[in-house]
Amino acid sequence: LHARKPFISGNWKLNPQTKDEALALAKGIASSITENSPDVDVALFVPYVFIESTMSSVDGKLSVGACQVCPQLKGAYTGAISTSMLKSIGVEWALAGHSERREIYGETDDYINAQCLKIIDEGMSVMLCIGESLAEFEQDLAGSVCAVQLKKGLKGINREDLDRVAIAYEPVWAIGTGKVATPEIAQNVHAKCRAIIADMYDQEAADAIRILYGGSVTPESVDDLMSMPDIDGALVGGASLDASKFGRIINFK
Ligand code: G3P
Repeated sequence: LHARKPFISGNWKLNPQTKDEALALAKGIASSITENSPDVDVALFVPYVFIESTMSSVDGKLSVGACQVCPQLKGAYTGAISTSMLKSIGVEWALAGHSERREIYGETDDYINAQCLKIIDEGMSVMLCIGESLAEFEQDLAGSVCAVQLKKGLKGINREDLDRVAIAYEPVWAIGTGKVATPEIAQNVHAKCRAIIADMYDQEAADAIRILYGGSVTPESVDDLMSMPDIDGALVGGASLDASKFGRIINFK
């Protein structure tokens, strides 16, 4: 049914506030993955301080990733976390380019590209987040904004490393607003992104890369989104903080 292995991921952002809550949530989510679940990859992007304990609480059922990385490897960067540090504790995945990092922390396409390259260099996998603002969406610029973010974000990543790259299309107007993109709107942008990958690399690469949708995904919206040919998964914020909701999203139909 699915051309690519589905990938359901959660982004906890600056939540939850205690280790106990984080572990209870992680365990609840892990327990929703059963032999009856779809054949799906699951990842949770969690705050650094919870990464190791979350990893040891999920029985290897899902992958635990970092929400961002420092593009420098070492030195005088107070407060930063490097890919080598993450690699050394067994972290496989990291996000790059989330719109909150772009907006609140001023991360530019060049900086995000440096993060992507560092993650790939380290042998880890990156989920590059892209997406247009409401104003851009209203001016029918979603496709072109995403094309620019994709091209700049992936610059210098070699064809043979693309199997360690996933894309998350997250229209900014849909994040945390309850206004999920319709499956048709998302499908349209996903297909455009896939065409950009074909253009940058080749058709085989484009057919293989996973493009996830993010922005107010819920148990109510996931099934229709996942039925679209170019939507390969979801990157879930709010609903990933509720084990039963996220469990239902993992077990999409
Ligand atoms: O990275 C996921 C996120 O930005 C979507 O958040 O709360 O709209 O699911 P939410």
